[in-house]
Amino acid sequence: MTDLDDRPSVPAPEPDVDHATRRWAQRFPELGTGPISTDRFISPEFHEREREQVFRRTWINVGSVQDFQADAAFFVRDVDVLDVSLLVVRDQDGRIQAYHNVCAHRGNKLIWEREGACPRMFTCRFHGWAYGSKDGALDFVPDEDQFYFPDRGGLGLTPVTTDTWNGFIFIHMMDEPPVTLRDHLGPLADRLDDFPFERLSLQYRYDVPEKNNWKIAIDAQNEIYHVPMLAPLHRFLSGGAFHTNEDGYTRIADFQRLGLHSVYTSASDSDFQDTASGVAHAAAHPRFGELMLPLETPFAFHVVFPNLVIAFFNNSMFTYNFWPAAVDRTTWEIRLHYPEPANLGERVLIEQAKCRFRDLLCEDQAGHQALHVGLKSQARDAFVLGEQEVQIRAFHKTLDDVMQRGA
Ligand code: FES
Ligand SMILES: [Fe+2]
Repeated sequence: MTDLDDRPSVPAPEPDVDHATRRWAQRFPELGTGPISTDRFISPEFHEREREQVFRRTWINVGSVQDFQADAAFFVRDVDVLDVSLLVVRDQDGRIQAYHNVCAHRGNKLIWEREGACPRMFTCRFHGWAYGSKDGALDFVPDEDQFYFPDRGGLGLTPVTTDTWNGFIFIHMMDEPPVTLRDHLGPLADRLDDFPFERLSLQYRYDVPEKNNWKIAIDAQNEIYHVPMLAPLHRFLSGGAFHTNEDGYTRIADFQRLGLHSVYTSASDSDFQDTASGVAHAAAHPRFGELMLPLETPFAFHVVFPNLVIAFFNNSMFTYNFWPAAVDRTTWEIRLHYPEPANLGERVLIEQAKCRFRDLLCEDQAGHQALHVGLKSQARDAFVLGEQEVQIRAFHKTLDDVMQRGA
């Protein structure tokens, strides 16, 4: 069995089947309809190949401009899957550059804080070597006369290829990437170039450690098929937030492949009933509930290959970064963005939305880990996907294509 059954053939629908329920397989025959192997989630060898053939060779999002606390500021991102610690710096002029967070003297991890305002110099805590925060150049060496420097100018911080798009910061581990960030993002960037990201501010961030493969997490978030069934929170808090057919099963409104990336969208059910507290808060602050973003549908879930999600839900945006730490360890980085509240009532509305979302995602987290337990048992060597899980199928097809031919 191949990892992905790439047979383009689709079984002919039986006469009484609603053809609309199978339209994704018909519109994207290259995705096939076959099973996906268990092995790709639990094999250490497959994980190694992902590290080498995907993560080390493509553009990776490491945060956004909203992660900086000031005009001149830094954050540190330890990226296990790349075996690097990154020091990402924004200078007074707004330029953003990532460096290896490594001292040029004996290789100490230079900055241990998670984030902060830029000092004039980044100083190593081991022997005090200091680097200018503006350009990463070696600025000061204690007792310098004791050293023999063949090339002192080459002892600055080691830069990592960095670029930004719409406030999202990306790095590439190759000095000369085979494609620009713009070309990597391609039609995904075309679609979201003009989106008013600046109207949404980062309000909360959660870093969730999980005992599962990173693709289990991204797959579980990559469909809304589970929402009406997963109990109790999904069913109670999200029931009706997504469009369902007459049997109560969710239906995605659209799905598109955007180069390496993809998006699915969903409408809300017209008879959606919010919780009692949600109704009360929204009634008190109707302005805040009015859709103020240019969205085709209230829900749009973009997967930016390989491990970033940019999703919109009514007036909010949430982003996910799924960071593999090992074949069975993942950090699920979650950021919630809302319009800046204008008063205390709107602040309370955001707080309520945040708590609801957090609780839902806790239920998801438990599910991710349970899935890994089941897959690791190898009780089954493959699993099946339905039409409403088309974006999962597309993600794995892209992953296979990239691993075979490079990003
Ligand atoms: S390792 Fe950084 S100053 Fe020595
Ligand atoms: Fe979920």
